[in-house]
Amino acid sequence: MGYKEELKSILDEAEDEINQAHNSKELNDLRVKYLGKSGIVTTLMKRLKELAPEERPNFGKVVNELRDSIEEILEEQKERITEAEKANVYQKLWVDPTIPGARRSVGHLHILTKVQRELEDIFISMGFSVVEGPEIEESWFNFDALNTPEWHPARDSHDSFYIDENLLLRTHTSPVQVRTMLSRKPPLAIVSPGRVYRRDYDATHLPMFTQMEGLYVDRDVTVKHLKYFLEEFAKRALGESARIRLRPSFFPFTEPSFEVDIYFNGRWFEVLGCGMVHPNVFKNVGYDPEEWRGLAFGFGVERITMVKYGVKDIRDLVRNDLRFLENW
Ligand code: PHE
Repeated sequence: MGYKEELKSILDEAEDEINQAHNSKELNDLRVKYLGKSGIVTTLMKRLKELAPEERPNFGKVVNELRDSIEEILEEQKERITEAEKANVYQKLWVDPTIPGARRSVGHLHILTKVQRELEDIFISMGFSVVEGPEIEESWFNFDALNTPEWHPARDSHDSFYIDENLLLRTHTSPVQVRTMLSRKPPLAIVSPGRVYRRDYDATHLPMFTQMEGLYVDRDVTVKHLKYFLEEFAKRALGESARIRLRPSFFPFTEPSFEVDIYFNGRWFEVLGCGMVHPNVFKNVGYDPEEWRGLAFGFGVERITMVKYGVKDIRDLVRNDLRFLENW
């Protein structure tokens, strides 16, 4: 075979191989194979000195042409590969702007939190300030200071969660009022919202629930003021048609004491305890019972929520079932 045929078959093979290269790496390997330092074409060139002098120029020329052709084929294939690789990248980057975006659902406050804030706002608008206190309480603040002596059934360990002999989870937020009276001089008007704990659990009682208790101490406070605040509270919380009624009741820390029912949506609901602060409570915090009068009331935020929104089972408020929570 003359060298022309040999070169032609090298070119054909190179073209075949190069056109089948899939990526830059394969292409580069082929460049080395043909045009590299010890590549096929370079090796051909070295044959030059074995040839007769008159054959050399022509041989050199055709080998150079061969090199140029392979170079050209490599370039063309390189372009194709680059295009393909680019297309591939774009393919991956491509976004379809017509697909609906991922919805980010924004959460919302729990219904109890909402109601609690609404109720706080009602009392704030009537001049009360909001005060909070510890949930783990000393029995003196929870009971003794509130005229609830050792023998009182409310102190029974069946009703409350004791931590040791002296500490318990507060059973109401009234101790916050004791703390406030100890640290402030009258007159004062406060509400104390917060979690309280009792050993109860059924469709209308939770072992942990939220109370809001109010206290107003001044020189000439009477039951009329108490009725006014509660009526106003009922109307603002549940609507103008809401009404209240007071029934005589008993609490160790108030005298007289009342149970309050609220009329709403054609029914009476028992929602509140209240009364005039007992003189002994004033004595315990160093207020002169001859000089000061006080009204106090307390209710469960869960109960108000149930009345307002027609919740039948109090446990729904703590179950964290979205089907329930998403209604508000
Ligand atoms: N502390 C009482 C309770 O938890 C409620 C109450 C507060 C009653 C103030 C009268 C006056 O049941």
